[in-house]
Amino acid sequence: MSTATSNLDSSEYLPIHVNTLGACECVDVKLFLQDSETQKLSVYRNGASRLESGERQWLMEQGDGMLYVARSDYRGFQHLLRKSLASLLKDDSASVDLRLATLSEVARDAIAAAFSSGDVEQVIKQGRALVHQCAVLLSQGEYLPAELIAALHHDDSPHTHATNTAFLCILLAKEFGITRLGDLRQIGLGGLLHDLGKRDVSTHVLTRPESPTPGDYDQIKRHTHGVYHQLCHRSDITYGQLMMVYQHHERFEGGGYPVGCPAVDVHPWARICTVIDAFDSLISDRPYRQRMSLSNAGDIMKRAREIIFDPEILECWLTTIKHS
Ligand SMILES: [Fe+2]
Ligand SMILES: [Fe+2]
Repeated sequence: MSTATSNLDSSEYLPIHVNTLGACECVDVKLFLQDSETQKLSVYRNGASRLESGERQWLMEQGDGMLYVARSDYRGFQHLLRKSLASLLKDDSASVDLRLATLSEVARDAIAAAFSSGDVEQVIKQGRALVHQCAVLLSQGEYLPAELIAALHHDDSPHTHATNTAFLCILLAKEFGITRLGDLRQIGLGGLLHDLGKRDVSTHVLTRPESPTPGDYDQIKRHTHGVYHQLCHRSDITYGQLMMVYQHHERFEGGGYPVGCPAVDVHPWARICTVIDAFDSLISDRPYRQRMSLSNAGDIMKRAREIIFDPEILECWLTTIKHS
């Protein structure tokens, strides 16, 4: 019997994907379920053994696949996940959705900590380890893109967008025919770093509930070359990764920023990043709108085919997510 508690307050409770709850032998934290109509949270379990696949499936069908834990319990939950991650990733008998959801939850938390440290070195170090695991997982075995997309969070925080862009860039690159593990790892890290320059944009501008003003837009546009200048002297960042950071707002027909050059002058990895950057933004909450469904996001992007997006890369992505 569940007990209604309170309306969802993101400062008190954090969402976790139900699939991560198959990763740990014992989930010793109180779990809450949100009523889709009233938005109220009810106690779902007072800590228990692992959730088996039938129960996880049932929970997925109840809503968006999320349960909630109290913020005070979240560190303990992350500790359990991290302990199980290494063996889980090597366990071929574990389902791909379970492995992806666990990796995504651990990655997002590690990237959040690295972002809040303000230390680029930390972001690169954490990011490199996590995109390696994601690239290995996605480059072996069978999986459905739906499983990866369902494993991601869709809130409007910079670390969520960075993590999602990294994972989805790897997926699109692989579907587009890039198979070398080393390339997929580089593309993942490029995706993770693509918006790092937004650290220099004021929070007021980034969280404004209305559309950006021309002044805001000028400030936002500087995020591509700011971080480019920070990274371009590093020997461990490749040219392709730098171009992902520098060129992901260029447009297929030209007229984007920072340069406004046409697609022929834009690195293919940056064109992959442009598609994923827009897609992840559309399917995630933003201060000025709620997340869209995958099909609505796809329809909007189709209208910008050959204007903003490389048509071949966009087509590949739309085919990839078709059955998601
Ligand atoms: Fe950007
Ligand atoms: Fe972005």
